[in-house]
Amino acid sequence: MADTLTITDNRTGRTYEVPIDDGAVRAMEFRQIKVSDDDFGLMVYDPAFMNTASCKSRITYIDGDKGILRYRGYPIEQLAEQSNYLEVAYLIVNGELPTREQYDRWVHDITYRTLIHENIKKFVDGFHHDAHPMGMLVSTVAALSTFYPESKHIFDEETRRLQIIRLIAKMPTLAAFAYRHSLGQPYVYPDNDLSFTGNLLNMLYKMSEAKYQPHPVLERALDVLFILHADHEQNCSANAMRAVGSSHPDPFSAIAAACAALYGPLHCGANEEVLRMLTQIGSLDRIPAFIERVKGGEGLLMGFGHRIYKNYDPRASIIKEMAHQVFEVTGRNPLLDIALELERIALEDEYFIKRKLYPNVDFYSGIIYQSMGFPVEMFPVLFAIPRTAGWVAQWQEMLLDSEQKIARPRQLYLGYDQRDYLPTGQREKQSAVA
Ligand code: CMC
Repeated sequence: MADTLTITDNRTGRTYEVPIDDGAVRAMEFRQIKVSDDDFGLMVYDPAFMNTASCKSRITYIDGDKGILRYRGYPIEQLAEQSNYLEVAYLIVNGELPTREQYDRWVHDITYRTLIHENIKKFVDGFHHDAHPMGMLVSTVAALSTFYPESKHIFDEETRRLQIIRLIAKMPTLAAFAYRHSLGQPYVYPDNDLSFTGNLLNMLYKMSEAKYQPHPVLERALDVLFILHADHEQNCSANAMRAVGSSHPDPFSAIAAACAALYGPLHCGANEEVLRMLTQIGSLDRIPAFIERVKGGEGLLMGFGHRIYKNYDPRASIIKEMAHQVFEVTGRNPLLDIALELERIALEDEYFIKRKLYPNVDFYSGIIYQSMGFPVEMFPVLFAIPRTAGWVAQWQEMLLDSEQKIARPRQLYLGYDQRDYLPTGQREKQSAVA
């Protein structure tokens, strides 16, 4: 049987046969379907890309029904257990796990590029004390492009490699400086003796001690969280990175756009909402009444449900397990007991079973971040740091894909046909249109 699709246009009675490749038909095939020679041709309409593949990718695979997430073919569970964030970042960016020699060079290159230009500190100083750290991150990462003007040579392989390393290396420093500014505390410079996450904790939390020693359990927990957040295929911010990158600006400017996309509450704000929800519930005995309110349409069970996962989000299972290790160090966050009981009751309830609503990555991550001492404003920043690996990999893949061009969607124009301009005195008041 041929892998083709036969389409009959009932307006004309004509039939077209279009190829099916990799489970998809090309939208451009529809352009040949016309009612007359001067017809533009048929378009496909897909707001929010609900059923449109915008690219071919070899980076991340998700099977939402089965709850599978893999980077470059490796299951997330194996990576979370056996790898570390920088190795995973190498894998995501370069496509293969590094040899010992490649790994050592990668870690060295990143470690020795964590410093940022002193002038960046002046930008950070200029923000109000209560500026949101994500606003500071978006601005300062964009500003980095002005310090590296050569970064616009995006088709030069070595230049591209250097900017990728700079971005992965400097995001934690920008994030930590934003955090310290909001507390009115002096900036802490990177410590090259520490691991990627150990150094981040150092830059965030070091006070007057001569040398900061991260707690190994918290350092590892943060590393695992970073592995879990490193990429998630074509989500809103990856799409922003590709779309902005497709006009060929430097990668610092494109990452600023990706960070801005991430910042929205529909993308990474849910773990903050989970904390608020758990705090409002307050005690175990109030859970059944809360569930009934959700089922009655009064709000959502935050941290449950996902556009892609119709099964347990594999990242949520790993985070749930890790929560216990973290709480052995930080003390048990009382919100965990409410979360566990809420999950137990929801997973037995017909409403949630029927709609395939399971815990997602955000259900437990906020509780862990809170226990580790991060204020909620830092949650999106803690997402942006590891997702930088995914963004740069998606960006590079887009640049090297000969089928990609500047991203430029079509529209269905439903506005006025041509009409003549009238001077102000001759106009009647019109109600505003959206
Ligand atoms: N609590 C209660 N009901 C829900 C929930 C929820 N959390 N999520 C979905 N539903 C219901 C929804 O009301 C609908 O019911 P009905 O069929 O009776 O109208 C049905 O389930 C299908 O929901 P949907 O809104 O069509 O699903 P969606 O794919 O458009 O939305 C979602 C996915 C994540 C936006 C949604 O589940 C939600 O708002 N969840 C809570 C917020 C949240 O946890 N967001 C974090 C997502 S993970 C982020 C990441 O991967 O980075």
